[in-house]
Amino acid sequence: MIIKGTNRFVIVYGRWVIKIPIIMLLKSARRYQKLLVKVGFVKSLKFFSYGINAFHGFQYNIFKGIVDNWSEYRFFKKTNIKILLPCVFSFFGIFNLCYFASPLNEENEKKDFAYFFYQIMGNDFYFDSHHFSNVNNFGIYQGKICILDYGDKATQKLLLEYGDEISKAFRWSN
Ligand SMILES: Nc1ncnc2c1ncn2[C@@H]1O[C@H](COP(=O)(O)OP(=O)(O)O)[C@@H](O)[C@H]1O
Ligand SMILES: [Mg+2]
Repeated sequence: MIIKGTNRFVIVYGRWVIKIPIIMLLKSARRYQKLLVKVGFVKSLKFFSYGINAFHGFQYNIFKGIVDNWSEYRFFKKTNIKILLPCVFSFFGIFNLCYFASPLNEENEKKDFAYFFYQIMGNDFYFDSHHFSNVNNFGIYQGKICILDYGDKATQKLLLEYGDEISKAFRWSN
């Protein structure tokens, strides 16, 4: 089974999952072409200097999946937040190996994630609200809810601050 995310696609093989970066070459070329026509060659060069999180820039289109893969692996190694789905191995971000987490079932899906996380994080929730209210970024591993997409810096910032509380709320500490 293959699942497509925003910056990575995921190959499920039994209890294993391989995450592979999506490299948006064509999209990037089209975006650059549009900019080139609009602002001319010299000004269009800024396309290449936009940071990794600027979704309309070159770096995001080409490297975001690789950067997220590597950052996810490093974050799992460095921290001890129970709600993180274990990321077992990363080949410099080119591919990651982790465990399969089952999709959330009906009952969990009905849970209002936005409200749930807002209760824990308060207004900080809006720092990465899109991510935390998307049930696809969560799964069931060893019978408990875990987060399976945590490569982005904004997500990591919130997890560092609220990860333990979230883990407790999802009963990871019992
Ligand atoms: N370990 C996993 N087990 C099961 N499904 C997964 C796993 N990791 C990712 N997925 C599925 O693949 C989708 C894309 O992966 P994700 O890590 O969210 O990548 P992206 O950074 O592109 O959003 C997820 O929304 C989820 O549906
Ligand atoms: Mg995702």
